[in-house]
Amino acid sequence: MTFLELAKKRFSVRSFADKTVEQEKLDMILEAGHVAPTACNFQPQRIYVVQSAEVREKLAAVCRFTFGAPVILVVCYDRTRDWKNKLMPGYESGETDAAIVCTHMMLEAEELGLGACWVGYFDAAKIAEALELPENVTVSAMLPLGYPAEDAKPLPLHSQFRDASEIVEYI
Ligand SMILES: Cc1cc2nc3c(=O)[nH]c(=O)nc-3n(C[C@H](O)[C@H](O)[C@H](O)COP(=O)(O)O)c2cc1C
Repeated sequence: MTFLELAKKRFSVRSFADKTVEQEKLDMILEAGHVAPTACNFQPQRIYVVQSAEVREKLAAVCRFTFGAPVILVVCYDRTRDWKNKLMPGYESGETDAAIVCTHMMLEAEELGLGACWVGYFDAAKIAEALELPENVTVSAMLPLGYPAEDAKPLPLHSQFRDASEIVEYI
């Protein structure tokens, strides 16, 4: 499968089979996040792997988009480690770095036959509180993942694309 075929095949999986994700596959997903590019290669990302029913329930209590997934990757960054752009005071790379890491992991999950959904609709402070994260760590995204349920299918939004002319401009 080419990269473009993989990218087109992926969709947000929001319904999961009752099947354990093998540690070997989880390791590969985490490795994909490990090798992701980050500003200055500072690697501020922190990934919390949530598998226990107890902690998944804690997350579900503060975010309605965990979909009963067997694994939830909580993608964070350490604000003391990200790159600060001195040419643009206030710009910090953590969110961008974490987004690239999350994308790598999401696509690796797809390649391994797993499904995932990027989740951003939560109060990051509540997630941090539920997981008792250190003060310097910011939650950027969550990635519930697992084997897709047999009936998992993309939402209509998946195939609604703006015309390329609205998005790309040769200047
Ligand atoms: C930054 C970001 C935040 C998102 N947050 C959520 C979310 O909180 N809940 C959810 O169900 N999907 C969420 N999604 C998934 C998008 O709705 C989905 O990617 C989009 O509709 C395209 O569909 P597809 O992923 O199936 O191609 C998020 C995606 C991104 C990139």
